[in-house]
Amino acid sequence: MPYTSYAKVSREDLSALYAYFMQGVEPVRQPNHPTKLKWPLSIHSLMVVWNGLYLKKGEYTTDANKGVSWNRGAYLVQGLGHCGGCHTPRGVLGQEKAESEKDSRQYLAGAKLDNWYALPLTEIAKPGSMLVKR
Ligand code: HEC
Repeated sequence: MPYTSYAKVSREDLSALYAYFMQGVEPVRQPNHPTKLKWPLSIHSLMVVWNGLYLKKGEYTTDANKGVSWNRGAYLVQGLGHCGGCHTPRGVLGQEKAESEKDSRQYLAGAKLDNWYALPLTEIAKPGSMLVKR
């Protein structure tokens, strides 16, 4: 649940998601699985501290210097798409090192995830990039 990204989702889109889940998806009765997180990550109350350090509240704010399409793309990438959740490197406490292109060049700069490497999207976007087979 990448809630640090979903915090940027607009009230209108959240209301639409809520309506869909409440009216369009049949509930099932199923007990939760116990957490497999290792200590100290398994201590849920520590999240209060982590959130205080890293969770930025508030919806995506439009960049007035960019166009409508650019802002729509940035909103989708930073919010519901949460592309940075995998494609941005993380710090020692698991925080994304940047949450948008405004924070630093680390944003979408590629990151290791378990045995995967999520490519640097900033490089892929360049014309002639050798990172993606076309
Ligand atoms: C859950 C983790 C995760 C998220 C979230 C994620 N990606 Fe990725 N992405 C990966 C990984 C891992 C790879 C590398 C896959 C491989 O090497 O086969 C990848 C590869 C890619 C590639 C390269 C594909 C290719 O042909 O080689 C692109 C482009 C891409 N992601 C774009 C995005 C965009 C845009 C978003 C947000 C809408 C996004 N990703 C969100 C994990 C993620």
